[in-house]
Amino acid sequence: MANDHSRRKFIKKLGGSTLFAIAAPTIIAEAANVKDKGVQILKRRSKVPANDRINIASIGLGIMGFGNLKAALSREGIELVSGADCYDGHLQRLKELYGTDIKTTRNYEEILEDPTIDGVIISTPDHWHARQAIAAMKKGKAVYCEKPMVKKIEEGDEIISTQKASKLAFQVGSQWASSIVIQKAKELYETGAIGQLNFVEVYTDRFDAKGAWQYSIPPDASAQTCDWKSFQGGVTNLPFDSTRFFRWRNYQDYGTGMAGDLFVHLFTRLHTITSSFGPERIYATGGLNYWKDGRDVADLMLGLFDYPKTDKHPAFNLSLRVNFVDGSGGGDSMRLVGNEGEMVLNGNSVTIRNKKLPLAPGYGGWDTFGTFPENTQNEFVKAYNEKYKEVKPQVLPVGELVFQAPTGYDMRVDHFDNWFNAIRTNGVANEGPEFAMRTTGPALAANLSYQEKNIIHWDPVKIRRKQSS
Ligand SMILES: NC(=O)c1ccc[n+]([C@@H]2O[C@H](COP(=O)([O-])OP(=O)(O)OC[C@H]3O[C@@H](n4cnc5c(N)ncnc54)[C@H](O)[C@@H]3O)[C@@H](O)[C@H]2O)c1
Repeated sequence: MANDHSRRKFIKKLGGSTLFAIAAPTIIAEAANVKDKGVQILKRRSKVPANDRINIASIGLGIMGFGNLKAALSREGIELVSGADCYDGHLQRLKELYGTDIKTTRNYEEILEDPTIDGVIISTPDHWHARQAIAAMKKGKAVYCEKPMVKKIEEGDEIISTQKASKLAFQVGSQWASSIVIQKAKELYETGAIGQLNFVEVYTDRFDAKGAWQYSIPPDASAQTCDWKSFQGGVTNLPFDSTRFFRWRNYQDYGTGMAGDLFVHLFTRLHTITSSFGPERIYATGGLNYWKDGRDVADLMLGLFDYPKTDKHPAFNLSLRVNFVDGSGGGDSMRLVGNEGEMVLNGNSVTIRNKKLPLAPGYGGWDTFGTFPENTQNEFVKAYNEKYKEVKPQVLPVGELVFQAPTGYDMRVDHFDNWFNAIRTNGVANEGPEFAMRTTGPALAANLSYQEKNIIHWDPVKIRRKQSS
């Protein structure tokens, strides 16, 4: 009944109130019609009035630091004041791109002391996130902190409580939370487009050196051009090592492996769509198969997650995979499976496919029917025809609906708009610390499961590991 209800909501959304009470085959026809008209292009929704100027600074100026600045500075009313980084080449590059009047420093604390700065973008390695985010809020700065929000599960509580006390706009940088594609998927899911969810599978597979985190090391990398002590932040005390500095993801001292880097994005998408708080049982396995370059993290990881029934969603199972040794070249996809269809998400689009079983189950073919003696078969057919005389035996055709973001769409811009809007209105951003901890916690728990070779029992409401595991 619940399905029927949500299905009717879906029909209503699709075609208006006249379709409200029409049965499933019509939906399929409707879906096909829409498909005939072509793919539906989604529109950006956020319209942020750029009334107040916001002064920002970037802490961390590597790949994501520059990527975040490009998105943030494409918006009206946003001024870049300064940047901090541990490699002089990155500070020089900041001036090259944004002007020599931009202040640069190796010491991020100088940025936090500057009263002209309203918000900081933290794009440093994972081991710095919690420390810098908390310090920034304590100095009254709004924070955009890259994912994963924390390196260790225990760091979550203090970020949550500091943000609650300060009420500052806080956004974690898993940009999917503000993507128009994910928002559309959420709307479709909530209106019952796939019936009752039972399974989700997500994979991100790659096979190339950069994709496997072997990033380029600049020829001038040295103990003079790199502030190695600040980079290490006390978590290690090693002689200068340019590989660790520029390829920190490959070392557990600074990074969070495949789960912290990539599972987090997958959880962000799933939790945004389903409004879920997270799984209660977590099991992960994997190994280091190919990229044996000194790294101490896996290059293949599989995770299984059991989600309990809540008032937002039924109980379902999730399977995640990241493989950096996919000889086919790789790819990525997310698929939510329900009893009335599937929702497939690629970076830029969401596709709904529906297939509804007929009321008559059919017989013959790969079935016990052919094993019955002839007179029993005759009896069976007679009874079957009587029972299903009104119903056609074949499965109804598959219907398909595709929604796509416009060409060149950058969800990061929407994610920044959402943060800027929260700053301007003293509002709440899409990916606050509690939401982020509910995506980061299970990802980090997957690392624990992999290391301990054990199932981790997780409390998705209290956002912590249960004592029983
Ligand atoms: N949202 C996304 O899609 C996405 C994509 C890539 C990376 N990220 C995240 O962004 C973060 C940065 O990743 P990256 O690929 O840009 O790494 P990167 O190595 O290219 O850049 C990190 C920079 O931080 C600097 N740094 C280190 N310690 C610092 C400190 N104490 N103060 C100031 N600067 C410091 C380093 O010098 C380096 O330039 C990571 O947490 C990563 O998970 C997010």
